[in-house]
Amino acid sequence: MLGCGSPSASPTPGPSGGSAGSAGAPSSGGGGAAGNASAGATNGGGGVSAGGGGAGGSAGAADDCAATPTSLLCDPLAALPMSIKDTGLFPAAPDLSQHSARMLEYVPDPPLWSDGMEKQRFLILPMGQKIDNTDRASWAFPQGTIFVKTFFDDTGPQGAPRPIETRLIRAGEASPYEFFVYQWNADSTDATLVVNDIDGDINLETPVQITINRTQGGQPFMINGGQPFEHMLPSRNACSECHDKNGMVAQTFIGFDELRLNAKLTPDAATTQLQAFADAGVFMLPAPADPATITDASADEGRLLRIKRFVFGNCASCHHGDGNFDMRPDVFVENTVGKPTESQSVEPPAGWLRVVPGDPATSVLYVQMQRTMIPPPQGAANRLRPMPPVGLADVAVEQTSLKDVFDWITALPPQ
Ligand code: HEC
Ligand code: HEC
Repeated sequence: MLGCGSPSASPTPGPSGGSAGSAGAPSSGGGGAAGNASAGATNGGGGVSAGGGGAGGSAGAADDCAATPTSLLCDPLAALPMSIKDTGLFPAAPDLSQHSARMLEYVPDPPLWSDGMEKQRFLILPMGQKIDNTDRASWAFPQGTIFVKTFFDDTGPQGAPRPIETRLIRAGEASPYEFFVYQWNADSTDATLVVNDIDGDINLETPVQITINRTQGGQPFMINGGQPFEHMLPSRNACSECHDKNGMVAQTFIGFDELRLNAKLTPDAATTQLQAFADAGVFMLPAPADPATITDASADEGRLLRIKRFVFGNCASCHHGDGNFDMRPDVFVENTVGKPTESQSVEPPAGWLRVVPGDPATSVLYVQMQRTMIPPPQGAANRLRPMPPVGLADVAVEQTSLKDVFDWITALPPQ
């Protein structure tokens, strides 16, 4: 018995194949002029229409809950157990592709880059409930909504994906957004709760060794030369740094929004994920005819569009003008090119700007994105910090975007 809802298997195992195409290299999928990342989102997961369970569940699901009432699928507000087995979410671990049909898989576009790891994401709505999408910039999720995101490196059998951590955010009772992290054991049979929003140390972060070494889009894809490196399971406070900050101007559930769902799950899907979820009855209102998207008219074969998309996916949760300077797509160029830094805690050398046309080496934005390359004494003396400041290993910069930023700055005419 699998808990609530009939079981459903994703067609591909683990993090569903090509999801890394979108996660790892924004340019590989979403960069094109169409602004549609479908090529990257070749996620073969159960997907939007998984098993027909839909948002509302079914009589069968209710029956299942009589048998396994403690599953999070049945009792979404229950205390989170120490063992992920007891959540009922991954009954066939180490095969994480087996899951209840009520777990709706999706791939946000653009995604967050996370040390080169592949990811698998699910939305679980409480039975019979819908998302209120009246406010297009900030949807309202019913209490008991749970998002589940698992991160995989490449150390499974024969280099297959191996789960490292599973993060959860729940619209809970104690707070509207509760954050949790489970850490997987070596053979991927179980995971242990290491971050518990309800109690525990909110600054606890857990180092783990991961290895990124796979073939992606026909090319070898490695971080740190394919050697192990340290990845941090973020603290409760770090979750807040990105998620609560994003919630100040948009949603605390960052990735499940109109713009990021406005892309197909697979290239041959009939509709966008947004439309498919609307059709499956996940929202109160129909999907808008003109869903939010990121555009750019530059004649640079999509480079600035790719950069805007990367920055939206990786920086704009903090850099939206409320606290940190605004790098959302419409104002990204205006607020960076030729503009001095404004943060009081950053003191770049004389002449450095966020973006110095023609010169990446004195452009704070580029230098901070390089992470390990911040040259001393600039790094320490000028308090330049790797960006984003949380959630990334210094060795694991997303190289495609970094090169795009370098090329873009280099090509900008001097002012
Ligand atoms: C560096 C910023 C950052 C940090 C730190 C961070 N997240 Fe996220 N998270 C994101 C972004 C951006 C997305 C959406 C894009 C994606 O899924 O690739 C996301 C997505 C998620 C999702 C899927 C639902 C959603 O909101 O889109 C879950 C669950 C999640 N994060 C949990 C956590 C937890 C728990 C922590 C802390 C332990 C955490 N995250 C730390 C940026 C961050
Ligand atoms: C978790 C929140 C967060 C994320 C995500 C983030 N930043 Fe920042 N950023 C900050 C904070 C806070 C500062 C203020 C200075 C400091 O504390 O170092 C800052 C400062 C900066 C500055 C210099 C300050 C200025 O006024 O110009 C630049 C440039 C910058 N960030 C670029 C980026 C880029 C590019 C990304 C994405 C690749 C990014 N940041 C992602 C929080 C964030």
